[in-house]
Amino acid sequence: MYIVDNIKPSSEGIEDTKKDIDFEYFDSYYELHKKFIQPLDIKIDISKFEHEIEKYHSLFRTWDQNRPHLPRYGISLVNDDGDINKKIDLGCAVFDHRNKNLPVEKHLHERLFKVKTEVLSSLDSLRPLDVIGEFMLRSNILLWHKGASFLPHLDTFPKLSSNLRLWGVNDVKNYVFRTADGDCMVNVEPGRIYLIDTTKFHYAKALENWIYTFFLALDNTDACYQKLKELLIE
Ligand SMILES: [Fe+2]
Repeated sequence: MYIVDNIKPSSEGIEDTKKDIDFEYFDSYYELHKKFIQPLDIKIDISKFEHEIEKYHSLFRTWDQNRPHLPRYGISLVNDDGDINKKIDLGCAVFDHRNKNLPVEKHLHERLFKVKTEVLSSLDSLRPLDVIGEFMLRSNILLWHKGASFLPHLDTFPKLSSNLRLWGVNDVKNYVFRTADGDCMVNVEPGRIYLIDTTKFHYAKALENWIYTFFLALDNTDACYQKLKELLIE
């Protein structure tokens, strides 16, 4: 860059008010996300869910093309058209991995996926999710077997263009979930849905087979923030 003639403060006001919203959003995001993991008043009956999801086992897909040797599978709860039978379901794609090879205008983003699938609408065990149904974006059931993992990564950013993340798991004893702050699994209940702060690096591993996680994205509207504040237990 170039040397400038004058670095003294200007007597004129700085016109940067369009950015105020970015500062305000950042502050409101961390006002809501006081810890990495916070329990919500939403709980799924795991034994009922594990029984009900069996009828969809034949429609689970590999968790995209990233590290395909791992036993990681998924099925959409919310995707772009509600179809879980089609050949390719981008609702089960790893967005950041795919976006590296796509032009910006074709980037995949949670907000492009807003249609509920029959898995979400038909399973009685998932009815506790109805309280956040109107805010749900690309969401999945992930199924991992022993040895599956997510390497350290971020999912979201404290920006208006990003989304919020909810999470839950069926088998709390055989799932490792860590951030830089340490173990996230302290006091986690099977089937409980948590608000998690995936603007912080985290990783996960399955120590046993048949680990289901609820991998849910929510829109970051004011109404959604209000609903989450009502649902937070602590
Ligand atoms: Fe993540």
